[in-house]
Amino acid sequence: MNIGILNAGGDCPGLNAVIEGAVSAATARGWVVYGFYDGFEGLLSTPEDERWRILTPANCLNIRSQGGTILGTVNKGNFTVKSGVDGRMQIAQSVLDRSRETVERLALSALIVVGGDGSQTIGLELQQIGLPIVGVPKTIDNDLGSTDYTFGFWTAVSVVSSALDRLRTTAVSHQRMMIVEVMGRHAGWIALYGGIAGGADVILIPEIEFKLEEIVRKVELLKALGQREILLVVSEGAKIGGKLLTLDEETKGEVRLGGIASFLSTKLETITGIETRYCVLGHVQRGGSPIPFDRILGVRCGAKAIDLIDEGKFGETVALLRNEIISMPIADAVRSLHLVDGNSQLVEAAKEIGISFGDE
Ligand code: F6P
Repeated sequence: MNIGILNAGGDCPGLNAVIEGAVSAATARGWVVYGFYDGFEGLLSTPEDERWRILTPANCLNIRSQGGTILGTVNKGNFTVKSGVDGRMQIAQSVLDRSRETVERLALSALIVVGGDGSQTIGLELQQIGLPIVGVPKTIDNDLGSTDYTFGFWTAVSVVSSALDRLRTTAVSHQRMMIVEVMGRHAGWIALYGGIAGGADVILIPEIEFKLEEIVRKVELLKALGQREILLVVSEGAKIGGKLLTLDEETKGEVRLGGIASFLSTKLETITGIETRYCVLGHVQRGGSPIPFDRILGVRCGAKAIDLIDEGKFGETVALLRNEIISMPIADAVRSLHLVDGNSQLVEAAKEIGISFGDE
């Protein structure tokens, strides 16, 4: 049997682990694995311009330890979902037709789509035109409702945590406030876990509305207690007076978030008089080698995707539930975003240990 695998959207530590897991489990069954380059774009292959290669255990050996993806990826391109006439999201018919032609020409019995909610929605569209799709959830943002954790998330958290350790030493030396902007889009998971692990004094996330006066109150209290350094972690998707800060007004895909650390830095330095610097961690959070948890989760997801194909469970995605890898319909998995609950035990515990969310 021939199967295909592709990863789409932003890269994520653990993608190569998924590929290696899937290739090993498929090859053990005697199947041939086609790895498509650059996300869904690989499906637009033609005999004159093939955009795939055969993946084997030998050419995927130990790629689980490598960051990025050996297949490359794109998060904009021909498969960008656009609003249709009736408001439905749809991909151009010619693109769907060419994808089907490739799957038929290579005689693929299944296609594994490793991606976040946008890519899984594209996978669903392909499923609806009759392609046999199996999904694997991917994102450092951890914002997919279907799965307890996505691979890549804990690597990003560990980058934030160690960045805070480093920034603390320089902040202590200079008695400065450091504002650290982290990724996560509209979900505050990376800021929340990274901030707790790295000992942030203030964590600002999209899910909890904050007031500048509250942050100022907290900072001045810590200063009055003699603390030399202040560490503030802010999600790129946290809002100022209900407004998101973005890097570009008009984009083809989703708007790029950013700028809140710079904004807060100027504001808080002016109000408190404390020398303040900011640091945008950016793609450092996505790059580099995955931590062991993400490698293990990645290979498990890859192997489970092969099980789903073996069982003919198309239109399903793998998911992590209480440390078991399970499956569920892709349609259910993309239905809701997994956001931080401001009243959760985790947030309450963070408040109990003195972390401010700028809300009280
Ligand atoms: O969804 C993953 C993510 O890293 C977000 O946290 C971030 O907002 C976005 O992707 C950045 O995308 P790009 O790589 O296109 O700048």
